[in-house]
Amino acid sequence: MKLRIAGPDDAELLAALHATAFEAPWPAGLIADLIATPGAGALVIEDEAPQAMILFRAAGGESEVLTLAVDPRRRREGLGGLLVEAASALAREAGAEALFLEVAHDNAAAIGLYQRAGFAEVGRRPGYYDRGGGARADALVMRRDLNSTPPNPYPAGGT
Ligand SMILES: CC(C)(COP(=O)(O)OP(=O)(O)OC[C@H]1O[C@@H](n2cnc3c(N)ncnc32)[C@H](O)[C@@H]1OP(=O)(O)O)[C@@H](O)C(=O)NCCC(=O)NCCS
Repeated sequence: MKLRIAGPDDAELLAALHATAFEAPWPAGLIADLIATPGAGALVIEDEAPQAMILFRAAGGESEVLTLAVDPRRRREGLGGLLVEAASALAREAGAEALFLEVAHDNAAAIGLYQRAGFAEVGRRPGYYDRGGGARADALVMRRDLNSTPPNPYPAGGT
C-alpha cells in the first residue's frame, strides 16, 4: 500500500471509494472541482485500488477536512487515522494553525477517530445533515490545534 497526493484526474476513482462510505455519494465532478480549489489537497492510500481518501482545504491560517472515507473492508486498520495525521501535517506546512471539521453527532466511529487525534468539540449545527424523509441530524464542529504536540499513542511506562 502507498500513500500519495491525489489530483483531479483521480476523481472517478475517489468518487467510487466515497460511494462505499456514504449514503449520499459525491459525484466525480464535484470531487475534481474541490481538488482543483486553491488551497485544497487530497490524499489517497491505495494498493490496486484506492482504499482510503481525505480531502482538505487550508486558507488564511485555518484548514478544514472536507471528507474522509475508508473502504468498509479496510476499516480499523489505522488508515483513517493515518490520513488525518498526513493532512494535518500538510495543513500545518501550509501555515494553518487549526484544523476544523463537521461530523454527524451519531457517527461514533469518526468521532472516536477524531477525539483520538486530538480534536475537541467546539460547536454544534442543529439539523445540518439531511437524512431523507424529513429526518435531519446535528453536526458537531470539531477543532484540532495544529501547533500543539500531537497526542502520544504510546503512553509512558513501557520499556
Ligand atoms: C470513520 C472512518 C473514516 C474511520 O476510518 P478507519 O480507518 O476505520 O479508522 P482507524 O482504523 O484509523 O481508527 C482510529 C481510531 O478511531 C476510532 N474508531 C474507528 N472506528 C471506530 C468504530 N467503528 N467505533 C469506535 N471507534 C472507532 C478508534 O479509536 C480507532 O482506534 P483503534 O482501532 O485502535 O481502537 C471510517 O469508519 C469511514 O470511512 N466511515 C464512513 C465515512 C465517514 O463517516 N467519514 C467521516 C465523516 S466526518
